[in-house]
Amino acid sequence: MKTIRIGIIGCGRISRQHVPRFKRIDDKSKSEIVAVYDIKPAKARQCLADNGISAKVCRSLDELLAQPIDAVVIATPNDTHCPLTLKAIAAGKHVFVEKPMAGSIADAEKMIRAAEAKGVVLLVDQSFRYMPLYQAVKKELDKGVIGNIIHIHCIRTGRSTPNVGWSPGANWYVQKKHSGGVIFDHAVHMADVLQWFAGPIKTVQSTARTRGMQAVIHSMSLFDFANGATGVLEHAWNFPTGVTRLEIYGDKGMILFPEVMRAEFYRSGETKPYKILSGKPDESIDTSAQSEAPIVVKPVPTAQETFLKAVAAKKSGMWNEGRQALAACTAILEAAESRKPVKVRYHKEK
Ligand SMILES: NC(=O)c1ccc[n+]([C@@H]2O[C@H](COP(=O)([O-])OP(=O)(O)OC[C@H]3O[C@@H](n4cnc5c(N)ncnc54)[C@H](O)[C@@H]3O)[C@@H](O)[C@H]2O)c1
Repeated sequence: MKTIRIGIIGCGRISRQHVPRFKRIDDKSKSEIVAVYDIKPAKARQCLADNGISAKVCRSLDELLAQPIDAVVIATPNDTHCPLTLKAIAAGKHVFVEKPMAGSIADAEKMIRAAEAKGVVLLVDQSFRYMPLYQAVKKELDKGVIGNIIHIHCIRTGRSTPNVGWSPGANWYVQKKHSGGVIFDHAVHMADVLQWFAGPIKTVQSTARTRGMQAVIHSMSLFDFANGATGVLEHAWNFPTGVTRLEIYGDKGMILFPEVMRAEFYRSGETKPYKILSGKPDESIDTSAQSEAPIVVKPVPTAQETFLKAVAAKKSGMWNEGRQALAACTAILEAAESRKPVKVRYHKEK
């Protein structure tokens, strides 16, 4: 496969994951980081030094887009995703953009139209669906181990707002004008995973808290899935401790993760049991029949590898997962603000 030449836009905290992952990619889907650009050039230089690579440090977006690159990675604050994507697409580049896809559905639709018109790949980094843990759960669900999903419940909390813990000083994370807030930051991941597991959501009801900040830092939502299943999704940035609990109830049993957070980061080769409980609603569960299945963490293609393969194959429609996740998050925010149920607005083919 031809080497895909990459330009990185935004060299902050998350670029520390993208750069080494693109650098490590093997012969099957080769990539080379050719140029980097950050509005703070020192960050671009630091990013190269930290990863031991040499690439051109550009002084402007136009300079980066004029380099011999096939694709860009956009890893900047949320409200910049749409304008930067549109400029990159206009220059004929494939785009791997961070989640959330955009700050609004209207912006996401502009990005889709531009990518389809130009015939370039547009993939959103919904990184949770590339985690071995969730891939393993999806396989169990597809095998029918718990039957059809009737309810799904997830709470995920952190211990600090991202401008304190994750990327100190990155205050855009807690500002609504930059599309900050926990809904676009965290709920966008689990809303994606929940829709991957249980299908599209029809309506959302929610409530949220800002607790003196400029953006939502805690949100609780009820989902009505199109297939009749229900869901509860709760996210908070700064609770006293960080946890993730995920419970998936089916008509033949359930899958329980009392503490899933660490399991998301198991390295390849590690195994850990998770519980699959058999039993039907209205019947008492036979506890002697409970099973503990190992999550065998096998390497799965990363989002970066998926992007390179899509570029090589010039795949269209790769934006869909990001668009669906954004649809759910926009509905969560609108429902919290209006205190009314909100319909989820997915992409409609014209
Ligand atoms: N997929 C994931 O799991 C994941 C995890 C964390 C963050 N993210 C996303 O990645 C993006 C970046 O997050 P971060 O934590 O790296 O933020 P950050 O604030 O640490 O870094 C952002 C960088 O972008 C630069 N920048 C700002 N505006 C720019 C512009 N117009 N052009 C070029 N550079 C610009 C800043 O100077 C900064 O260095 C966000 O959209 C965030 O939601 C995704």
